[in-house]
Amino acid sequence: MNARSLVVGAAGILVLTAIATPVNINAQNAPPATHLTYAKDVAPIMQRSCQTCHRPGTNAPMSLLTYEDVRPWARAIKNKVTQRLMPPWHIERNVGIQKFKDDPSLSDTEIATIAAWVDGGAPKGSVNDMPAAPSFPDDEAWHIGTPDLIVEIPKPHVVPAAGGDLWIDYIADSNMTEDRYLQAVEAKPGPGARAVVHHLLTYLIQDIDQDDVLAGRLDDRPTNNESFLNEFAVGKNGDILPEGTAKLVKAGSKIRFNLHYHPSGKETTDRARVGLKFYPKGYKPKYHQISLQIANAHEELDIPANTITRHDGYYTFTKPARVTALQAHMHNRGKRMCVEAILPSGRAQTLNCMYFDFNWHKVYNYADDATPLLPAGTVLHTILWHDNTANNRSNPDPRNWIGYGQRTMDEMAFSWVTWTYLDDADYKRMVAERNAWRTTTSQQQQ
Ligand code: HEC
Repeated sequence: MNARSLVVGAAGILVLTAIATPVNINAQNAPPATHLTYAKDVAPIMQRSCQTCHRPGTNAPMSLLTYEDVRPWARAIKNKVTQRLMPPWHIERNVGIQKFKDDPSLSDTEIATIAAWVDGGAPKGSVNDMPAAPSFPDDEAWHIGTPDLIVEIPKPHVVPAAGGDLWIDYIADSNMTEDRYLQAVEAKPGPGARAVVHHLLTYLIQDIDQDDVLAGRLDDRPTNNESFLNEFAVGKNGDILPEGTAKLVKAGSKIRFNLHYHPSGKETTDRARVGLKFYPKGYKPKYHQISLQIANAHEELDIPANTITRHDGYYTFTKPARVTALQAHMHNRGKRMCVEAILPSGRAQTLNCMYFDFNWHKVYNYADDATPLLPAGTVLHTILWHDNTANNRSNPDPRNWIGYGQRTMDEMAFSWVTWTYLDDADYKRMVAERNAWRTTTSQQQQ
């Protein structure tokens, strides 16, 4: 029996106990505890925020497609959503930017609805109220269009039916023989392997030479030769770069696949892959997307036993910049990250704070009209907290001092930030457009 079925078993017993326990001796005469029904009130929430993951063939432990699927999990669902553990969305809501692409998170009202519906006995309601079943995209299709190049992990990876989770990196040759400009990218598990791939991140590894830097084809101060490429996430359909923006993929480049495998009860072979689409040959992009680990705390990472620590890192934007994505990277003791922009005026603005869960390596993509636009000279300040105490449930052993290292048991601390440097004219135009938009919307709200 694997860990997942143990969890399922335990939750199943909890639900049964809850149903069998007499709630209230007056219950028979009492009015219905809730007017909320699955069909009318809860199904629309499940469709928007849960079912992309909780359906057959994905990595989620159970399907939540129908009332019959959902009902046995009612207590567990209330428990997870009220703690904001499901859907997995770790952006703190009281500070920073709240507009993202692919945001499945629940509003306070939606959470209250689910909780009251569960407490009221989780009734089904009328089939006439049930929304039409949503259709899901074909999991095997490429959403970016037919890739020009597909790179797979070097050999098939067999995930046994049962056992522990595995975090593993594979490095594959791209077999690129010439430099090309990337226009779209999509990583995905091998055919039929979604149930075992908990996360999949891809990175581009290539030599950075001075010519590229001088010609503006690559960032001026890379921290290493790796650049973030794309995250596979259920419900997310690849990344298409804005027209005119590209990423240089050089001849001889390699791709690193960072994978988290989770046994699903059935032996499964995965051949994770990433599809790349390029701009036509000879295309000269105006802008280059940069995606780097910044604020790296390496040697200085010092996490004593039984302690909560904070580490800070700084990175200066040499030109005006438009930030499109943020991701925190730590290991088991990672707890929280905040990123703030210290503007040349000295004023600091929090972009976002997020709590960190090693189980979920999530990339947060800003909505197009919410991407931070930052003037040249802005310092991006990343603050990272690790919890090396027993309160951190993913901490293997709070008695150990922990420092930087590549192994899962070691720690890391950085933010992956994706941005584009803009020229002054475009920067000014975008800021003006944003201000105009803000003024109109605030007038409309008055
Ligand atoms: C991005 C994919 C994703 C989304 C969206 C998502 N879940 Fe999950 N859910 C998972 C995975 C994967 C697990 C297994 C535990 C883990 O890996 O954290 C899980 C676990 C759970 C569990 C615990 C099951 C157990 O074994 O005890 C519940 C309950 C749950 N989800 C409910 C929900 C509800 C309700 C929603 C929507 C409001 C939701 N989830 C949205 C992926 C998702």
